[in-house]
Amino acid sequence: MPPDLSPIDRAKRAAALRAAEFVEDGMRVGLGTGSTAAWLVRRLGEMVRGEGLTILGVPTSEQTAALARAEGIEVITLDEAQRLDLTIDGTDEFDAELTLIKGGGGALLREKIVAAASDRMIVIADTGKKVETLGAFPLPVEVIPFGWRSTRALIEETLISMDVAGREVALRGGAEAPFVTDEGNHILDLHLGRIGNPRQLAMVLNQIPGVVENGLFIDLCDVVVVGAEDGRIELRDINAGTVERGFAPAPGAGNLFADPEGKSA
Ligand code: A5P
Repeated sequence: MPPDLSPIDRAKRAAALRAAEFVEDGMRVGLGTGSTAAWLVRRLGEMVRGEGLTILGVPTSEQTAALARAEGIEVITLDEAQRLDLTIDGTDEFDAELTLIKGGGGALLREKIVAAASDRMIVIADTGKKVETLGAFPLPVEVIPFGWRSTRALIEETLISMDVAGREVALRGGAEAPFVTDEGNHILDLHLGRIGNPRQLAMVLNQIPGVVENGLFIDLCDVVVVGAEDGRIELRDINAGTVERGFAPAPGAGNLFADPEGKSA
């Protein structure tokens, strides 16, 4: 355990360590994007290099692909894998139904395609990602660059009849230097405040010409692992209807998440 980890990184790492236990030899694994998923990729790298784990990884971004390769994980494309056993990814928000807002890192399109191609999706998060109602985090929507202003206008018009609290739509990075995704698109961030009906909103957004995909992940996440800074984890399996509470595993000697009181579930 690096001694100078921030509380938030300790929480993210705790979730990642528990989720890594779901990865089995021979699996084809979707590798998420973002700071939480990076902890997972690092742990899987340790398992590959030091514990004889053999997996094929399908990264959800160029950033994750570079990290996975650096960690010694064999990387293949989704087309080569076609179907994945498991995807483990971070999130920006999740609610009680395990509906997610993703795309804060701009990788929502590949993330959703990879999650949809997986038998199971596990989301890893710190406690701050859990919400009663989605929408405080701006909803990312990936749009093609051609005519993005027209697409934005259509989105703004559409939002008038949606159950949301706010309607501001911002081009990520601004018009002078817009953010460009791995697929060469732009991101519009929808500042909605509250999303009353995520399913309806997701369907309506994807009907708009120019919209490639939205950051609402519905019926994709099976398990969420929430980490806390003291190494505690809470694991919710939406299909089994179970909740597990305990401590993150402690790979390697001297790990600060070791469970001195034997409380691990
Ligand atoms: C990437 O596009 C996102 O979907 C990330 O998974 C999400 O933003 C979570 O990122 P962090 O783990 O860095 O908070």
